[in-house]
Amino acid sequence: MREIIEPFRIRAVEPIQFSTPEQRRQWLEEASWNPFLIDAEGVIIDLLTDSGTSAMSAAQWAAIMIGDESYAGSRSFRKFEAVVQEIFGFRHVIPTHQGRASEKILCTVLAGPGKAIPNNNHFDTTRANVEFTGAEAVDLVIDEGRDPDSLHPFKGNLDPNKLRAFLENCRSARRQVPFGMVTITNNTGGGQPVSMANIKEISAIYREFGVPFIIDACRFAENAWFIKQREPEYRDWTPKAIAQEMFRHADGATMSLKKDGFGNIGGFLALNDDALAEQCRNILILTEGFPTYGGLAGRDLEALAVGLHEVLDEHYLEYRAATTRYLAEKLNAIGIHTVQPPGGHAIYVDAKRFYPHLAPTQFPAQVLVCELYLRGGIRAVEIGSVMFGRNVDGVETPSDRELVRLALPRRVYTQAHVNYVAEVFAETFAERESARGLEFTYQAPILRHFTARFRSL
Ligand code: F0G
Repeated sequence: MREIIEPFRIRAVEPIQFSTPEQRRQWLEEASWNPFLIDAEGVIIDLLTDSGTSAMSAAQWAAIMIGDESYAGSRSFRKFEAVVQEIFGFRHVIPTHQGRASEKILCTVLAGPGKAIPNNNHFDTTRANVEFTGAEAVDLVIDEGRDPDSLHPFKGNLDPNKLRAFLENCRSARRQVPFGMVTITNNTGGGQPVSMANIKEISAIYREFGVPFIIDACRFAENAWFIKQREPEYRDWTPKAIAQEMFRHADGATMSLKKDGFGNIGGFLALNDDALAEQCRNILILTEGFPTYGGLAGRDLEALAVGLHEVLDEHYLEYRAATTRYLAEKLNAIGIHTVQPPGGHAIYVDAKRFYPHLAPTQFPAQVLVCELYLRGGIRAVEIGSVMFGRNVDGVETPSDRELVRLALPRRVYTQAHVNYVAEVFAETFAERESARGLEFTYQAPILRHFTARFRSL
């Protein structure tokens, strides 16, 4: 087996700003121990997110030059619409500026007080959009999906038994389920894929109960690749054919094209139901823009139409999966526990086992995020009690997991960058006993992790 190489050459580069540990300590203190509040120039390797941080290809930049900026009926929209229809297969394509705008529109039209929306795991913006309308966001991932050590090949699967029991309960309580979801890949659960068999099974259950089935499709190409690797019937299918098959079982999709669209901005809401699409377009006009550009410029639509094809390239997807696997293997060799198997877009480090001396109320995952920044200028994100530790009533209950996510931007960092990340981890791990906890000095009422401020104990 030959090495899996980066399947691209680099023709445009962006210099990295280097910094000293002393500078980083000052910046982190100014940011109150929340790396979301640090200027990006102070970061050496930015693994905060894979969202909107991808490198566009020469073909995408070329497409930008032919954008049609007409307010209505833009040629670029027709191109974008055709590509989305070809891959996703839904009749109505509603362009938005990013994924959460699609969620907001769908929830505004369909959700509301007393209603419930199931998912494997709601991503934080999806949960917030559901809860903002007064509805309940219910997570029904399989039990293996909550176990960091389980080697189940599809830990993102939504548990069909839990789903059926939940829908039966809602029916007997006359509680409305306006739509049901599954998130591919399951970001909150560790970037884990959902199998085709599971998509088919939950689709049948949703249909039986008359619940429209909406896929959160942010990382659909990575999910298709895992299906090709792990579900034998699909071994000889192209990623595109697998993607088409996944969406054939759904009634619509919300999409952030900042992930598997290779875009720096963009999203869509796609639907089959004519009446629902019309209601959503009316909200779109109110909040995003006219239906043939939504929240985007014509040039964005052009670049995204190209990106949606590029992301389904097998050499790209093979390299993508190899990158996360490589980083996970390096960290595991040091003795660091990561959620197994490695996810599609990110590695999730178990901070509870990294810092067994820190209680969840001292935010061990946020501590690790800060240590990585101080030691190596690496920016990662906490997925633990800072993000999920408070329920809707404002009662502080720790999250069951304390994870640090290292999300890999697409086509941006090389193998040497990944080696550097592993070196910084080795040093942080060797000196882990000296780490101290954090406590809040400020928190916002919703999505508090973005703007939280802390004090080191
Ligand atoms: N759904 C999932 C599964 C996501 O991961 C995200 C964004 C969204 C919806 C919302 O999309 O950002 O375009 O509005 N995830 C980013 C992340 C922010 O870092 O994981 P958006």
